[in-house]
Amino acid sequence: MKTYDLPQLTDAAAAAALDAACRQVRVNLPLYTHRCQNHSSVGGIYPACDNVQWTCGFWPGEVWLAYERTGDDAFRTAALTLVDSFAERIDKKIEVDHHDMGFLYSPSCVAAYKLTGSEKARAAAVKAADQLLSRFQEKGQFIQAWGAMGAPENYRYIIDCLLNLPLLYWAGETTGDAKYADIAHRHITTCLANSFRPDGSTYHTFFMNPDGTPSHGATCQGYRDDSFWARGQAWGVYGSILSYRYTKNPQYLDTFRKALDFYLTRLPEDLVPYWDMIFTTGDEEPRDSSSAAIVACGLLEAAKFLPEAEADACTTLARQMLASLAGHYAVTDQVPGAGLLAHGTYSKKSPYNTCTPEGVDECTSWGDYFYMEALTRLTKDWQLYW
Ligand code: GLY
Repeated sequence: MKTYDLPQLTDAAAAAALDAACRQVRVNLPLYTHRCQNHSSVGGIYPACDNVQWTCGFWPGEVWLAYERTGDDAFRTAALTLVDSFAERIDKKIEVDHHDMGFLYSPSCVAAYKLTGSEKARAAAVKAADQLLSRFQEKGQFIQAWGAMGAPENYRYIIDCLLNLPLLYWAGETTGDAKYADIAHRHITTCLANSFRPDGSTYHTFFMNPDGTPSHGATCQGYRDDSFWARGQAWGVYGSILSYRYTKNPQYLDTFRKALDFYLTRLPEDLVPYWDMIFTTGDEEPRDSSSAAIVACGLLEAAKFLPEAEADACTTLARQMLASLAGHYAVTDQVPGAGLLAHGTYSKKSPYNTCTPEGVDECTSWGDYFYMEALTRLTKDWQLYW
C-alpha cells in the first residue's frame, strides 16, 4: 500500500473535532427534527426538506453519533422523532421505489434499534430491507438502482449499492431469514464481476442486457464513462470491506485492496480527491471531501481484519486523511444550518455525464455523517450502524 509522510490526527485532536461536530449538530437540532436536512448545502447552509430523498438517513445518523458521544437525551429524543418519520415513510411507501434503503434506514432506524432497542425502528428497518429485496432482478442477478423495474433505460445497478447491502446482512441476522444475505451475495457477485475494472477503478453504473448478460459501464455523476468518479471509488472501498465484515469472503478483501490501491494512485497531496479522479493536482476543479471521509471509515473498518502491519498502515492513512479534513475542510463557523465538512461535491455536470448539477463545492449530508463516523471510530470501539 502507498504510504505518505504527512501528519496524523491524534486521539486528542479526533476527540476535539468530534466535540466540535457535536456542537454543530446541537445548533442544528431545531431545524431538522420535525423536517429533514437536504442532501447538500446552498452557500454553506442546508435547506430543510421533507423525508423524501435518498439522503435523509445521514442527518439522523449524525444525531445518533452525537448521542453516543455526549449521552445527552436531547439527541436521543430528536433522533427518535426522526425514526417516527422513517417508519411512516416505509409504511406509506413514500419515495422508496429505489435501492437506497440502506443509506436511509441503517443510520436512522438500525442505529436506533441498536442504541435504544426500539421495536418500531427495528420493524421499519426490516420493512426497508424487504423493499430493497423487491428491487432484485433475477435476469442479471442484481438490485436495480433506479426507475421502474425492468425499464430498459434503467436496467442497471450502481457501485453505491454496496452501502445498501449491510441492511440486508443486518435484516438476515435479526430475523434469522437467509433470503436477505442470499440476495446480497448474488448482487455483490454481479457487481464484482463487472463494476471493477482490471486496474481497480470502478464504473459508476453498469447496464445489464434483458437476457441477464452484462452490457456496459456508464457514468451518471462522474466526468465520463471511462473516468474515475471519486465517490464511486470510495463506495467501492468502504462497501467491499463492509461485505467482508459480514461474510468473511476473501474475494471482498481482495476487492478492498485493489479499489484502495487505485484510489491512492490518484490523490492530490492533501489526500482529498477531486470530484472525479481523472483530475489531479493543479486542476481547477472542485474536490469531494466526502469521498475522503468515506474511505477513512473503510480503512478503519479494514484495520480490524487485516494482518498487523497492513492494519497499522490503514490506520495511519485514515489518521492522515482525517488530519487533512479536520485541519483544512471542517467548517468552523458554527451558525444554524451549517454543515460539518466543506468542499464536497454531490453532482457536477460535465459534457459527458447525465446528472443534474447540485451541491458543487458544498457540504453534503453524507460527507458530514462519514466524517463524524470516522472520528467516532478513533474515539471508541464503535458498534456499526451498517
Ligand atoms: N449515491 C449517490 C451519490 O453518492 O451521490
